[in-house]
Amino acid sequence: MLIQRPRRLRKNPIIREMVSETKLSRNMFVYPYFVVDGTDIAHPIDAMPGIHHFSIDRLLQDVSIGLQMGIDKVLLFGVGEEKTPDGSSSHTDHTIVAKAVTALKKKFGDRLFVITDVCICAYTTHGHCGVLHEGYVENDPSLDILAKMALSHAQAGADMVAPSDMMDGRVGAIRSLLDKNGFENTGIMSYAVKFASAYYGPFREAADSAPQEGDRKSYQMDFRNGREALREAILDEDEGADILMVKPALAYLDVISRLRNETLLPVACYNVSGEYTMVKMAAKHGFIDEQKIVMENMHAFARAGADIIITYHTRDILEKGWL
Ligand code: PBG
Ligand code: ZN
Repeated sequence: MLIQRPRRLRKNPIIREMVSETKLSRNMFVYPYFVVDGTDIAHPIDAMPGIHHFSIDRLLQDVSIGLQMGIDKVLLFGVGEEKTPDGSSSHTDHTIVAKAVTALKKKFGDRLFVITDVCICAYTTHGHCGVLHEGYVENDPSLDILAKMALSHAQAGADMVAPSDMMDGRVGAIRSLLDKNGFENTGIMSYAVKFASAYYGPFREAADSAPQEGDRKSYQMDFRNGREALREAILDEDEGADILMVKPALAYLDVISRLRNETLLPVACYNVSGEYTMVKMAAKHGFIDEQKIVMENMHAFARAGADIIITYHTRDILEKGWL
């Protein structure tokens, strides 16, 4: 005779709902935007169906609509800026990101939480995330530029900066420059565990940030490593990160889960461009049910331990009532 019957708790939707262990909330989602110079631009990005390059005026419009659905956290990337060998165009006070932050904050104030990506790969002629010297990305000379970039975003009004470069010590460098300039309340969401991943393919087209030569393996993490992920995260926590992020998300649920057990900080995951595009393309061809796949993935991130989900699906999820 069977005493244990787990199926009793799956008998109908009401009881399944009652015993469901993972609940998603609209507050978990962060929506990324690609911002370009110009006016009246809402240019679809081929490699990322549903995502656009927006000029600031159109960004304001889109954010305004998004806010009505509860999209109140955005992550900004600047695209199409001047490229220099050392990425110094990344930290003027008139970068497209700085201008976008200023405009968003002016229009929406504290109703919108603005996070900016801090990395120089879209601002360097060589497309690497740090200063290149004889084929090697130099760590320490890159810190100063990254910190200045973060400061320029903070000065424009960013609520939080998100360094995605994977240089050693950059969280500490950014924290210290922000504090020195009176921005002790500007947060840092660190891309603490960022793997060298082929899943960034569509993004690099969107952001025009692909390395011209070589790859990012001397700074981004080797996907064979899990313990090292925790080491990276602990270092960033010690240097003052407020939120630790794992990126990509789908293939790294184990890392999200291990990190959740290791830190008291909020854990974020970045459901990246390649993960997004795979779902979009398969759905477009009718091979999968987009809503079901997306929500299965989102629950997987939360079940693994993510408190925050950065995803290009945010708009669909909230707009179409998938939650
Ligand atoms: C820049 C950066 C990348 C992503 C976020 N910030 C690309 C990269 O490191 O090559 C990837 C985002 C995505 O794929 O959605 N360092
Ligand atoms: Zn980069």
